[in-house]
Amino acid sequence: MSVATAVAHPNIALAKYWGKRAGKGNYPAVPSLSVTLAGLSTTTTVRFDAALDADRLVLGGTAVAGEPLARAAALLDRVRASTAGRVSERAEIVTANDFPTASGLASSASGFAALALAAVRAAGVDASLDRVSDLARRSSASAARSVLGGFVELDAGPLDDPSGESRLAARVVAPSDHLDVRVLVCVVTEEAKTVGSTIGMVETAAASPYYASWLDEAPRLFARARAALLARDLEALGEATEKSAFAMHAAALAAGVVYWRPATLVALDAVRALRRSGVGAWATIDAGPHVKVLVAAADAARAAAELGRVTGVLRVIEARPGEGARLA
Ligand code: PMV
Repeated sequence: MSVATAVAHPNIALAKYWGKRAGKGNYPAVPSLSVTLAGLSTTTTVRFDAALDADRLVLGGTAVAGEPLARAAALLDRVRASTAGRVSERAEIVTANDFPTASGLASSASGFAALALAAVRAAGVDASLDRVSDLARRSSASAARSVLGGFVELDAGPLDDPSGESRLAARVVAPSDHLDVRVLVCVVTEEAKTVGSTIGMVETAAASPYYASWLDEAPRLFARARAALLARDLEALGEATEKSAFAMHAAALAAGVVYWRPATLVALDAVRALRRSGVGAWATIDAGPHVKVLVAAADAARAAAELGRVTGVLRVIEARPGEGARLA
């Protein structure tokens, strides 16, 4: 088979990954825990074709070159290298998101998860979830988690692998119906983000006086979030989630890496006001200005209505836990 199509969804980290291990392999420096979302999808087709003289990337109907193509081609190179010479053709990647990229949902996570699955299937090589998750992680560590559904963890990378060849794949901690929650994405700007996550992480590691504290604290927050999730204790999970985001951003801010916009703070205030009014709601923020709010499913409509009225919140996208990557 030389063509395959896969679908994957974005995920939101409850315990954040921020910072990479030194050396090759794109290994995270800390463990992370996320929830894969339903309802928002990336669909990607990979076709190896002897008539092509270079890899091609078509994103949302438009041919794309430069950095996005280079990152996608690097993944294809890894897949071709694993076929023992059987597949050497260039490929065309046709991919589309059914959600806007400026929605504050990481299209790189769903994008590389769908690309990794479609590429291994099209090349006819090992398509185990472990292999696909490891492959996706090498392009974008958070993408390793979108390969799997429900609540998903990714360990920190090995400390002693200068070659970068050890496999590191995400694992399911609990299925999507384990905890009846929703994530409310409060979109606060339509502008694209200015500092990508890799650059933000590198600058944090190089210049933040609090980076060492983050590396020390993140595994503890991860363990708290994981235990709370397994115990179905939404309040404890929410508290650990919010602490993880604040600790990550505190480390980044101290290096001058500022993802927040004025509306980010206004939305954070609104989450606190919800809590004061008795609605369990906890915020998290990724490498961008949008605020994502974890709530019980039963509180989602009320919380979404309140957050939607906040000045500076342009719209609220409601997402539920969803499935991992799969063939279409
Ligand atoms: O995997 P990347 O390079 O897109 O980085 C993800 C970083 C955060 O979204 C901020 C945290 C996370 O764990 O997803």
